[in-house]
Amino acid sequence: MASTTRTAVSPFLDPGPRTKANSLAILQLSRDNLQPVYLQSPTGVHDGYAEGAVVNTRYGSFPHSTMLNVPWGSQIRASKVDTGSRGRKRKRGSGDDACREATGASEKDNEDSAAAANEDSAAGVKQAVADSSGFIHILPPTPELWTTSLPHRTQVVYTPDYSYILHRIRARPGSVLIEAGAGSGSFTHASVRAVYNGYPSEGQRKGKVFSFEFHEQRYHKMKKELSDHGLGGLVHLTHRDVYNGGFLVDGKSPEAEAIFLDLPAPWEALPHLSRRRPQSSTSADEQTEWVSPLNPKKSAYICTFSPCIEQVTRTVSAMRRLGWVDIDMIEIANRKLHTSRERVGLNLNFDRGVNNSARDVEEALTRLADIEARFREHAAKPRDGDEDMDSGDEDAVPAGKSSGPTNGSDGPSAEETSSGVPPWMEGRLITRGEPEIKTHTSYLVFAILPWSGRGG
Ligand SMILES: C[S@@+](CC[C@H](N)C(=O)[O-])C[C@H]1O[C@@H](n2cnc3c(N)ncnc32)[C@H](O)[C@@H]1O
Repeated sequence: MASTTRTAVSPFLDPGPRTKANSLAILQLSRDNLQPVYLQSPTGVHDGYAEGAVVNTRYGSFPHSTMLNVPWGSQIRASKVDTGSRGRKRKRGSGDDACREATGASEKDNEDSAAAANEDSAAGVKQAVADSSGFIHILPPTPELWTTSLPHRTQVVYTPDYSYILHRIRARPGSVLIEAGAGSGSFTHASVRAVYNGYPSEGQRKGKVFSFEFHEQRYHKMKKELSDHGLGGLVHLTHRDVYNGGFLVDGKSPEAEAIFLDLPAPWEALPHLSRRRPQSSTSADEQTEWVSPLNPKKSAYICTFSPCIEQVTRTVSAMRRLGWVDIDMIEIANRKLHTSRERVGLNLNFDRGVNNSARDVEEALTRLADIEARFREHAAKPRDGDEDMDSGDEDAVPAGKSSGPTNGSDGPSAEETSSGVPPWMEGRLITRGEPEIKTHTSYLVFAILPWSGRGG
């Protein structure tokens, strides 16, 4: 172990125990609402906020100072921020159903925030004051959370697809993987974690991703993101049209054994992923030495990702022509199931999670018998005239309507019926499917280009 300089490890690979400045964090506003943020040390008034940089959400305002040096997963309470210098009026969340009351922040977390805030005061930044408007959670960046929160520049590959793809193309610590196009970098983040086995120092071969993107703006955005995420040394991004330019980097072979193509026409890139010169080469090309981008000593595993079956057909034909074997196609149909407890019964208060229908046939019959009995009783009462109808007989039940024990007027209250079971354990477990499938469904074509056994 001769390594002397230590590269800061990407927070995607090792986030450490606590949040830190100048690093990416993911703010969880609600279950599926995630927001990436680069935490900044407060250095003075920022964008008009006396507390320094602030994240504004529907759950309140969150100065970065309150989110620094806290354990990952912490609940962060909203703050009353001073927008005086920019003359903004703060939105109050009163009565807003989206607004959640802050509860349960541990004393330790509060102490940490207070300590951070005191340091801020010393630096000339206004100390953040906790508000009651709401809270969020702060999570470490992972490829999965990044996929859900990244700025979309293209369609992206989602977690159910990339988990399966990475397994099938045998991406593992130490693998060298080729990816094209990089797009929004969703697959890139997942693949770099899969192949990571340390940052390479001079001349060392370590797990690495060679990524290619021909759209110039996307290339520059992605380049910056990779560097901000501490992944620059693990992903080599090249600005290139791979249909024409192939996959060599500075004329050298990446020696890849895993390949993922998310391109409109994978069959146009495939001839470059060969072990020998493609037949379509011109005679001028034939003067130069052919270099394969593949590892000469290992079989290459590929996956192509195409939304249309016509693309699959052309890809499979090209693969057959070029000697790929074990070709098969898969479609991942991921469906999230939401499981919760639902309390059912006519004797429950109107409350969240309560379904006011009969729990079973017996309860429905008891209720009907009850209504009928009241109805008969009411009908049997002597009637002196219409005014009796307004006499305030509270037992009167109009035909066809329930007397509404559901509202707690005659049925026992929720507490009375709970029979000692805590409220969150009451009710039947129900599972509902997601109304829509959120993955971008594509056909995944897998194939293997075997190692020739002759060193290339
Ligand atoms: C659907 S996106 C890839 C999304 C990416 N897999 C992700 O998970 O974020 C396809 C990308 O391929 C790029 N692309 C298309 N043709 C290309 C080519 N010939 N060479 C390199 N990149 C190309 C496009 O610019 C686009 O960014």
